[in-house]
Amino acid sequence: MLEALNPQPQDKILQLIALYRDDPRDGKIDLGVGVYKDATGLTPVMRAVKAAEKKLWDTEKTKTYTGLAGEPAYNAAMVGMILGEGWADRAASVATPGGTGAIRQALELIKLATPNATVWISAPTWPNHPSIIKYLGMKMAEYRYFDAETRGVDFAGVMEDLAKVAKGDVVLLHGCCHNPTGANLNTDQWQQVVTLLAAKGAVPMVDLAYQGFGDGLEEDAAATRLVANGFPEVLIAASCSKNFGIYRERTGILIALTSVDRKAVVQGNLNFLNRQNYSFPPDHGARLVTMILEDAALTADWKAELEEVRQNMLGLRTQLAAELRKATNSDRFDFVADHRGMFSRLGLTEDQVIRLREEHAIYMVGDSRINIAGLNAQTVPVLAAAIAKVAG
Ligand code: LMR
Repeated sequence: MLEALNPQPQDKILQLIALYRDDPRDGKIDLGVGVYKDATGLTPVMRAVKAAEKKLWDTEKTKTYTGLAGEPAYNAAMVGMILGEGWADRAASVATPGGTGAIRQALELIKLATPNATVWISAPTWPNHPSIIKYLGMKMAEYRYFDAETRGVDFAGVMEDLAKVAKGDVVLLHGCCHNPTGANLNTDQWQQVVTLLAAKGAVPMVDLAYQGFGDGLEEDAAATRLVANGFPEVLIAASCSKNFGIYRERTGILIALTSVDRKAVVQGNLNFLNRQNYSFPPDHGARLVTMILEDAALTADWKAELEEVRQNMLGLRTQLAAELRKATNSDRFDFVADHRGMFSRLGLTEDQVIRLREEHAIYMVGDSRINIAGLNAQTVPVLAAAIAKVAG
């Protein structure tokens, strides 16, 4: 049986981790996988997470199964954090293993409900989106998103392509901090997209993996809330990996907004999908998140640390844009300061990306996506000088 298997293509982001690890050079710089790192290169456990873990260790009396949909308190706290109050009647939800688990469950739900629907993804998008869609054998189409010239959003392209969406098609949107480009729609553009897609009868699916990493926790949820208010049905796949820094705990949620009347059936289908795929979702990370969000002091401390993380990345963006100005004697990388989230697509060629790796030990994804948080005040000028050398 197993002889029938063919080798699978390697994930380009995960592949970089091994390449970087095996590079013996001193001073190598890892701008690959989307993991936050502080100035010392550590991905820290956040203070509130540590405090919640201590409390949990003291108070947890059982590790018996949790609910099939996750702990109701977790789901309610997450719906509140993402959408605000007032959604209980319309929000069906399941806890999932990370944001990827939520995306997978969302796509499975779409397949179950409308197997012939086309899922529209931005060009480019996080590579795992098309990978899972293809794996599930679903129809897929792309809408233009990134303007390679300005490194901003090609908004005319977005609107032109989304005008082709058919009724019942699903449109995958990045709620904030677009991955891989770092270029985002402004509020007015979001409104136009919502109006267009609502007129088309499309179903939006929002991937929200970086809430709190862009313009702030509330600000980063604004587009998702606009979408939630604009459609009878919305799917939201959210992750706690980044904003709570609990990557390996695999903590995510899929929220399906529907009518009050349909909620029980939708919830039953979400539970069914959890049962088919992994039965009960992981609980440890979800429990920590719940403890933090239900405790005012822990919430305040978590928000303060998340804000430090966000400000740190913004500071690195400003510094990198300034260093690139100096190093290239041009303003063509100024967009780095306008991008938001962990990533920026620099617009370098694949050849230049390879030269950065081979000649300068600087690792970034082949499409020239950098993880801003992989930098620190000392490595920013090193990166700028290297970019000027390969792309000057
Ligand atoms: C990334 O895009 O680097 C992150 O979302 C991590 C991953 O799983 O790819």
